[in-house]
Amino acid sequence: MRIRTFVLTAMAAALVVGCSTAEKAVDKAKSAATAVAKAAPKPKLMSGASAEMLANTCAGCHGTYGNSGGPATPTIAGLEEDYFIDVMNQFKSGDRWSSIMGRIAKGYTDDEIAAMAGYFSKQTFKPLLNQTAPSPTGAKLHEEYCEKCHEEGATDPDDIVLAGQTVPYINWTMWDYANGVNKFTEKKMKKAFDKMIAEHGKKSITELVAFYGSRSK
Ligand code: HEC
Ligand code: HEC
Repeated sequence: MRIRTFVLTAMAAALVVGCSTAEKAVDKAKSAATAVAKAAPKPKLMSGASAEMLANTCAGCHGTYGNSGGPATPTIAGLEEDYFIDVMNQFKSGDRWSSIMGRIAKGYTDDEIAAMAGYFSKQTFKPLLNQTAPSPTGAKLHEEYCEKCHEEGATDPDDIVLAGQTVPYINWTMWDYANGVNKFTEKKMKKAFDKMIAEHGKKSITELVAFYGSRSK
């Protein structure tokens, strides 16, 4: 933090002198500012240590390295960087419904969010296993309506992993979509969701939740 403040002050000073008309003074100030800039270590914001410090503020709820132990908080380890940034901005703007993240996300700048996105994307998603009994019906529903995007039974770490998230989290997230509380940012997902509910009713959500909770490895 101290380093950041220092660099920002130096930058502000450089900006102010840049507006001055007295050329000599400007030159003098500029070279002084350059010297200061040279002497100042590079901002550490994007480095591992700072990102880790920021990420530590999330650990109370999201677990160590972003692997949640539950009950209703998602694992954020391994989230793809762009997705992480989108989601945080949606929390900020209110486009994504949240109980708590709206308030939390507002406390972070774009750079800080980007740093955390980098940090969490490098962590490994550690699934919670065998939370529910296997659901063959849920498996079939998933295959038909969801597998196209949430691949390998929603376990593919390159996609958005659903299987092995905490069951309460997946459960209410799905119901929030079904009840229109959570808006679909992915139109094709809305189509798949609507089709499934039209063809199999809302009980299909319960079956899917059971399927995702039954992940065994
Ligand atoms: C007080 C508990 C708490 C803290 C602290 C917290 N979170 Fe969250 N987080 C939640 C909950 C609960 C959700 C589910 C959305 C909601 O209801 O707010 C969530 C959801 C998320 C999601 C969405 C995951 C997804 O796949 O949709 C991201 C990303 C996230 N949090 C990032 C963070 C980051 C980054 C921090 C630290 C700066 C943080 N959270 C701190 C409780 C918390
Ligand atoms: C066309 C691709 C596509 C299909 C089909 C699809 N999804 Fe998604 N899903 C996405 C994308 C993209 C996101 C991230 C959306 C966002 O950024 O808000 C997502 C997000 C989710 C989330 C939120 C995860 C979280 O932690 O916030 C859930 C739950 C989900 N999908 C369940 C399903 C289910 C169940 C089905 C099948 C009925 C399904 N999806 C079908 C693309 C798809």
